Amino acid sequence: MLSGKYTPLFLFLLLMISCSPKEEKTETIGEQIFDWHTQSNADKIAFKHLDLDIKVSFENKQISGCALWTIDNNKALDSLKLDTDGLGIDSVFVDGKKAGFRIGTFVEHLGKPLIIPVQKTSKQVMICYKTGEHPRALQWLTPQQTGGNAHPFLYTQSESIYARSWIPCPDGPGIRFSYNARVEVPKELMAVMSAENPQQMNDSGVYHFKMDIPIPAYLMALAVGDIRFRTIDKRTGVYALPEMIGKASNELEDMGKMVTKAEELYGPYRWGRYDVIILPPGFPIGGMENPKLTFATPTILAGDKSLVNLIAHELAHNWSGNLVTNATWNDFWLNEGFTMYFERRLTEAMNDKSYADMLWELGYQDLEHTVEDLGKESTDTHLKLNLTSRDPDDGLTDIAYEKGALFLKLIETEIGRPKMDSFLRNYFDEHAFKSVTTEEFVQYLYQHLMNNHPELESKLSIHEWIYGPGIPSNAPRADQERFKKVDMARKQFLSGTPAKDLETKNWTTYEWLQFLRTIPKPLKLEQMKLLDDTFHFTQSGNCEIADIWFVNSIAAGYEAAYPAMDKFLSSVGRRKFIEPLYEEMMKTGKQEMAKTIYEKYRGNYHPLAQMTLDKTINKK
Ligand code: BES
Ligand code: ZN
Repeated sequence: MLSGKYTPLFLFLLLMISCSPKEEKTETIGEQIFDWHTQSNADKIAFKHLDLDIKVSFENKQISGCALWTIDNNKALDSLKLDTDGLGIDSVFVDGKKAGFRIGTFVEHLGKPLIIPVQKTSKQVMICYKTGEHPRALQWLTPQQTGGNAHPFLYTQSESIYARSWIPCPDGPGIRFSYNARVEVPKELMAVMSAENPQQMNDSGVYHFKMDIPIPAYLMALAVGDIRFRTIDKRTGVYALPEMIGKASNELEDMGKMVTKAEELYGPYRWGRYDVIILPPGFPIGGMENPKLTFATPTILAGDKSLVNLIAHELAHNWSGNLVTNATWNDFWLNEGFTMYFERRLTEAMNDKSYADMLWELGYQDLEHTVEDLGKESTDTHLKLNLTSRDPDDGLTDIAYEKGALFLKLIETEIGRPKMDSFLRNYFDEHAFKSVTTEEFVQYLYQHLMNNHPELESKLSIHEWIYGPGIPSNAPRADQERFKKVDMARKQFLSGTPAKDLETKNWTTYEWLQFLRTIPKPLKLEQMKLLDDTFHFTQSGNCEIADIWFVNSIAAGYEAAYPAMDKFLSSVGRRKFIEPLYEEMMKTGKQEMAKTIYEKYRGNYHPLAQMTLDKTINKK
């Protein structure tokens, strides 16, 4: 397992040579696994524990305080290296004595290493610091940006390598540490973290946190605002703004059951409580699996629980990701592909197979588009990525998610569910609280499945899936039972059947998504109007449906939807939703419209969303 920056590959290679096909990566003999995305030397000096003492100032939009690291330097290195990105370092103390430090040269994507001279006996290194101008992990919201609350709000998003923009830390997924934190916030606000959390606001504005299970830095998280808590059952609950807490707890009332079902599938939930915080709508992603406390977008609150598979996804990460972690961002599919597979198994357990099959099919379509966009031969379509010298977010595509999940589904198809489930359960147990490389996973696969079933090797084409491009020809495809009915309805509509006569009565969100994905784009204006008059898509409270409807509206020039779309773009910051809208405007000759709307609302979006959208809007 990777316990720092390098891991010797010898053991693995010996095994690969003895029991794997010739084309496996024997050329890497003697190489060491290397995480390009951290400049820390946590591979040689153990970072055991972090005591964080910080103050959150909304006036200055700044976090400041001290990070006290407990280390073990038994290899007697002469300096300690941590990642920082934009941090201002005020002072450093080693074992209580003021010490010197140096800030290394800036490396694109990575920031600057903080280098502190230490001795073999050094045990505690304290760094007092403040965040810089535009920390990539932080989004500060004014009261107006919270969606109806009278107070400001702050949240962090540390994955993949943004923890370093608010904490000086060894910021690689292969490096784990426990932490305690003391966080001071304005008195009328409450703070929560990826740790044991308060359930009530206090008068002092000071909150204490404890996370005694070692986690990687990308799971460090903090949210501050006018936050309330509501219990769901004895180990689950919801945090949200007071305006949102009722809706949120109704939508998530099955969460306790979901945790139990997840345990039935892949073993005990090892993190104590499982709570979710519903953040203001500017949150740039759908969800983030911060341990003990999933961070989620309010766009999953559709009113009918149809989008809670996002919670299933973040919950599943407590096995695939938080418990067994990708060793480097090149192995990202071990986090996301496994989680997607787990999410769909959980969704099936909470609903039924035909329901989960719709999610598999929509995911397959997404994967086809991603492969098309990246290029069929692109190495970015390999499961094992090469992100050296690149932004790790370049790996944030449906390859990791959907191709990764399909590979596991293929294994399931070949060996059957009972074997698959015990294989995965053992994989989680045996690698609990460790990091795993793709090669280590493949080795585990050979050891535990291929040994008894040599015929599997050719059936699975492991090498092609992991080190090859595109979608391999043995990719499984889900049953289309429910989507066949959608196809029929679409055809009827297109050949003139009135919208109200279509058989859509029992359709869920996913049948609607399939319908809206497969109707011609652009649709004729009168057809858009007919659909809207009958199904009221423009006014849909379901963000998934509204979003694709708005994309179709832009394509068709269906202006009746524009005011609602403008409102949507003013508050929702989830990249998955807003990027396609701006892209569609740019693609269909509505550049002016895109620019005007973007200028109005850019300030509401997360720094990372701004970065991507700036490019979209400014390209010719
Ligand atoms: N861990 C990811 C989010 C992430 C990955 C953030 C990499 C930054 C870098 C999270 O679990 C996720 O996958 N979220 C999805 C949920 C969806 C697939 C159900 C999202 O936000 O859309
Ligand atoms: Zn995920």
